Amino acid sequence: MKVIALCGSPRNGNTEFYLTQVLNHLKAQGHETSLILLKDKKVEQCTGCYQCIDQKACVVQDDFQAVFQEMIEADCIVAGSPVYNGSITPRLKAVLDRAGFSARWMKNELNTTDKKYNWGQMVFSRKLFAPITVARKTGQTFAWSQMALWAGVNDLVLVGSNYWTVGTAGTSGSKNADEDIEGASIMEHLADNLHFLLTKIHQ
Ligand SMILES: Cc1cc2nc3c(=O)[nH]c(=O)nc-3n(C[C@H](O)[C@H](O)[C@H](O)COP(=O)(O)O)c2cc1C
Repeated sequence: MKVIALCGSPRNGNTEFYLTQVLNHLKAQGHETSLILLKDKKVEQCTGCYQCIDQKACVVQDDFQAVFQEMIEADCIVAGSPVYNGSITPRLKAVLDRAGFSARWMKNELNTTDKKYNWGQMVFSRKLFAPITVARKTGQTFAWSQMALWAGVNDLVLVGSNYWTVGTAGTSGSKNADEDIEGASIMEHLADNLHFLLTKIHQ
Protein backbone atom coordinates (compact mmCIF):
# COMPACT_ATOMS: atom_id res chain seq x y z
CA MET A 1 0.00 0.00 0.00
CA LYS A 2 1.14 3.53 -0.68
CA VAL A 3 1.92 5.83 2.24
CA ILE A 4 2.93 9.47 1.89
CA ALA A 5 4.08 11.90 4.55
CA LEU A 6 3.59 15.64 4.21
CA CYS A 7 6.15 17.59 6.21
CA GLY A 8 5.05 21.13 7.07
CA SER A 9 8.34 22.28 8.56
CA PRO A 10 10.32 24.95 6.69
CA ARG A 11 13.52 23.07 7.59
CA ASN A 12 14.97 19.58 7.90
CA GLY A 13 14.19 19.17 11.58
CA ASN A 14 12.23 17.41 14.27
CA THR A 15 9.02 16.93 12.29
CA GLU A 16 10.93 15.28 9.49
CA PHE A 17 12.62 13.04 12.08
CA TYR A 18 9.28 11.63 13.29
CA LEU A 19 7.80 11.31 9.82
CA THR A 20 10.89 9.47 8.62
CA GLN A 21 10.66 7.14 11.60
CA VAL A 22 7.05 6.23 10.75
CA LEU A 23 7.81 5.84 7.03
CA ASN A 24 10.88 3.68 7.69
CA HIS A 25 8.81 1.39 9.88
CA LEU A 26 6.17 1.03 7.17
CA LYS A 27 8.74 0.61 4.42
CA ALA A 28 10.28 -2.27 6.38
CA GLN A 29 6.82 -3.89 6.37
CA GLY A 30 6.73 -3.72 2.57
CA HIS A 31 4.74 -0.54 1.98
CA GLU A 32 5.66 2.01 -0.67
CA THR A 33 6.57 5.25 1.07
CA SER A 34 7.26 8.82 0.05
CA LEU A 35 8.29 11.86 2.12
CA ILE A 36 7.14 15.20 0.72
CA LEU A 37 9.01 18.17 2.15
CA LEU A 38 6.72 21.15 1.67
CA LYS A 39 9.64 23.50 2.35
CA ASP A 40 10.83 22.64 -1.16
CA LYS A 41 7.44 23.32 -2.75
CA LYS A 42 5.83 26.52 -3.87
CA VAL A 43 2.23 26.35 -2.69
CA GLU A 44 0.07 29.47 -2.56
CA GLN A 45 -2.79 29.64 -0.11
CA CYS A 46 -6.33 28.98 -1.36
CA THR A 47 -7.50 32.09 -3.22
CA GLY A 48 -11.16 31.39 -2.48
CA CYS A 49 -12.03 31.65 -6.18
CA TYR A 50 -14.38 28.64 -5.99
CA GLN A 51 -13.47 27.69 -9.55
CA CYS A 52 -12.87 24.13 -8.34
CA ILE A 53 -16.68 23.74 -8.25
CA ASP A 54 -16.93 23.94 -12.05
CA GLN A 55 -13.37 23.11 -13.09
CA LYS A 56 -13.18 19.98 -10.88
CA ALA A 57 -9.59 20.96 -10.08
CA CYS A 58 -7.67 23.74 -8.37
CA VAL A 59 -6.93 26.33 -11.03
CA VAL A 60 -3.96 27.87 -9.22
CA GLN A 61 -0.90 26.47 -10.97
CA ASP A 62 1.99 25.77 -8.63
CA ASP A 63 3.55 22.77 -6.85
CA PHE A 64 0.23 21.98 -5.20
CA GLN A 65 -0.86 20.09 -8.30
CA ALA A 66 1.91 17.48 -7.94
CA VAL A 67 1.43 17.19 -4.18
CA PHE A 68 -2.32 16.72 -4.63
CA GLN A 69 -1.71 13.95 -7.18
CA GLU A 70 0.45 12.14 -4.61
CA MET A 71 -2.34 12.52 -2.04
CA ILE A 72 -4.88 11.09 -4.47
CA GLU A 73 -2.72 8.05 -5.18
CA ALA A 74 -1.95 7.36 -1.51
CA ASP A 75 -3.79 4.83 0.65
CA CYS A 76 -2.53 6.58 3.76
CA ILE A 77 -1.49 10.18 4.43
CA VAL A 78 0.65 11.10 7.41
CA ALA A 79 0.82 14.86 7.95
CA GLY A 80 3.41 16.42 10.25
CA SER A 81 3.89 19.98 11.42
CA PRO A 82 5.94 21.90 13.94
CA VAL A 83 3.77 24.03 16.17
CA TYR A 84 4.02 27.71 15.25
CA ASN A 85 2.19 29.96 17.70
CA GLY A 86 -0.11 27.11 18.62
CA SER A 87 -0.90 26.19 15.02
CA ILE A 88 0.23 24.10 12.07
CA THR A 89 2.47 25.94 9.59
CA PRO A 90 0.99 28.07 6.77
CA ARG A 91 2.25 25.92 3.91
CA LEU A 92 0.74 22.73 5.28
CA LYS A 93 -2.49 24.64 5.94
CA ALA A 94 -2.44 25.86 2.34
CA VAL A 95 -2.05 22.29 1.05
CA LEU A 96 -4.85 21.00 3.27
CA ASP A 97 -7.20 23.87 2.36
CA ARG A 98 -6.72 23.44 -1.37
CA ALA A 99 -6.70 19.64 -1.24
CA GLY A 100 -9.93 19.54 0.76
CA PHE A 101 -11.86 21.77 -1.63
CA SER A 102 -10.38 20.18 -4.76
CA ALA A 103 -11.24 16.70 -3.53
CA ARG A 104 -14.76 17.71 -2.55
CA TRP A 105 -15.69 19.32 -5.84
CA MET A 106 -14.02 16.71 -8.03
CA LYS A 107 -16.77 14.27 -7.10
CA ASN A 108 -19.67 16.54 -6.18
CA GLU A 109 -21.88 19.06 -7.91
CA LEU A 110 -23.20 22.23 -6.37
CA ASN A 111 -26.90 21.63 -5.78
CA THR A 112 -28.51 24.89 -6.76
CA THR A 113 -32.14 23.79 -6.68
CA ASP A 114 -32.80 23.75 -2.98
CA LYS A 115 -29.48 25.27 -1.80
CA LYS A 116 -28.73 22.17 0.22
CA TYR A 117 -25.58 20.12 -0.06
CA ASN A 118 -25.87 16.39 -0.30
CA TRP A 119 -22.32 15.09 -0.20
CA GLY A 120 -21.39 11.74 -1.66
CA GLN A 121 -18.08 9.98 -2.13
CA MET A 122 -15.00 12.14 -2.11
CA VAL A 123 -11.53 11.67 -3.50
CA PHE A 124 -10.10 11.09 -0.02
CA SER A 125 -12.93 8.86 1.19
CA ARG A 126 -11.65 6.12 3.51
CA LYS A 127 -7.98 6.88 3.12
CA LEU A 128 -6.10 6.56 6.40
CA PHE A 129 -4.87 9.79 7.96
CA ALA A 130 -2.49 10.36 10.86
CA PRO A 131 -1.41 13.78 12.18
CA ILE A 132 1.91 14.37 13.95
CA THR A 133 2.90 17.61 15.65
CA VAL A 134 6.10 18.75 17.38
CA ALA A 135 6.60 21.67 19.74
CA ARG A 136 9.21 22.89 22.16
CA LYS A 137 6.67 23.20 24.98
CA THR A 138 2.98 23.42 24.16
CA GLY A 139 0.34 23.70 21.46
CA GLN A 140 0.77 20.22 20.01
CA THR A 141 -2.79 19.08 20.66
CA PHE A 142 -4.38 22.17 19.14
CA ALA A 143 -2.30 21.85 15.98
CA TRP A 144 -3.02 18.11 15.97
CA SER A 145 -6.72 18.90 16.23
CA GLN A 146 -6.53 21.22 13.24
CA MET A 147 -5.39 18.28 11.13
CA ALA A 148 -7.86 15.88 12.75
CA LEU A 149 -10.67 18.29 11.86
CA TRP A 150 -9.45 18.36 8.26
CA ALA A 151 -9.57 14.55 8.17
CA GLY A 152 -13.02 14.56 9.71
CA VAL A 153 -14.55 16.87 7.12
CA ASN A 154 -12.88 15.21 4.16
CA ASP A 155 -14.01 11.61 4.82
CA LEU A 156 -10.62 10.20 5.82
CA VAL A 157 -10.19 7.69 8.64
CA LEU A 158 -8.24 9.15 11.54
CA VAL A 159 -5.70 6.74 13.05
CA GLY A 160 -4.28 7.26 16.53
CA SER A 161 -1.67 5.67 18.72
CA ASN A 162 -1.29 4.79 22.41
CA TYR A 163 -0.93 8.52 23.11
CA TRP A 164 -1.48 11.63 21.00
CA THR A 165 1.07 11.51 18.21
CA VAL A 166 3.04 14.53 19.38
CA GLY A 167 6.69 15.14 20.03
CA THR A 168 8.52 17.50 22.37
CA ALA A 169 11.67 18.97 20.87
CA GLY A 170 13.22 22.11 19.49
CA THR A 171 14.33 24.42 22.30
CA SER A 172 16.09 27.38 20.67
CA GLY A 173 15.74 25.69 17.33
CA SER A 174 17.52 22.49 18.35
CA LYS A 175 17.01 19.33 16.34
CA ASN A 176 16.73 16.88 19.18
CA ALA A 177 13.61 14.82 18.56
CA ASP A 178 15.77 11.73 19.08
CA GLU A 179 15.91 12.62 22.80
CA ASP A 180 12.13 12.28 23.19
CA ILE A 181 12.03 8.57 23.96
CA GLU A 182 8.28 8.53 24.64
CA GLY A 183 7.63 10.39 21.38
CA ALA A 184 9.57 7.77 19.44
CA SER A 185 7.62 4.92 21.01
CA ILE A 186 4.28 6.66 20.29
CA MET A 187 5.26 7.05 16.63
CA GLU A 188 6.36 3.43 16.44
CA HIS A 189 3.00 2.31 17.76
CA LEU A 190 1.28 4.59 15.24
CA ALA A 191 3.26 2.92 12.46
CA ASP A 192 2.18 -0.49 13.81
CA ASN A 193 -1.45 0.62 13.75
CA LEU A 194 -1.15 1.93 10.20
CA HIS A 195 0.44 -1.31 9.03
CA PHE A 196 -2.28 -3.34 10.74
CA LEU A 197 -5.06 -1.32 9.11
CA LEU A 198 -3.44 -1.12 5.68
CA THR A 199 -3.04 -4.89 5.70
CA LYS A 200 -6.71 -5.37 6.62
CA ILE A 201 -7.81 -2.96 3.88
CA HIS A 202 -5.67 -4.78 1.34
CA GLN A 203 -7.26 -8.19 2.13
C1 LIG B 1 7.81 30.94 14.48
C2 LIG B 1 7.86 29.84 15.50
C3 LIG B 1 6.79 29.66 16.36
C4 LIG B 1 6.83 28.66 17.33
N1 LIG B 1 5.74 28.49 18.16
C5 LIG B 1 5.79 27.54 19.12
C6 LIG B 1 4.67 27.32 19.98
O1 LIG B 1 3.60 27.91 19.85
N2 LIG B 1 4.79 26.39 20.96
C7 LIG B 1 5.95 25.67 21.16
O2 LIG B 1 6.02 24.89 22.08
N3 LIG B 1 6.99 25.80 20.30
C8 LIG B 1 6.94 26.70 19.29
N4 LIG B 1 7.98 26.83 18.40
C9 LIG B 1 9.09 25.84 18.48
C10 LIG B 1 8.94 24.72 17.43
O3 LIG B 1 7.64 24.18 17.43
C11 LIG B 1 9.95 23.59 17.73
O4 LIG B 1 11.25 24.12 17.69
C12 LIG B 1 9.83 22.41 16.78
O5 LIG B 1 10.60 21.34 17.28
C13 LIG B 1 10.33 22.75 15.37
O6 LIG B 1 10.11 21.64 14.52
P1 LIG B 1 10.98 21.42 13.21
O7 LIG B 1 12.39 21.11 13.68
O8 LIG B 1 10.36 20.25 12.53
O9 LIG B 1 10.92 22.65 12.39
C14 LIG B 1 7.97 27.82 17.44
C15 LIG B 1 9.04 27.99 16.54
C16 LIG B 1 8.99 28.99 15.58
C17 LIG B 1 10.16 29.16 14.62
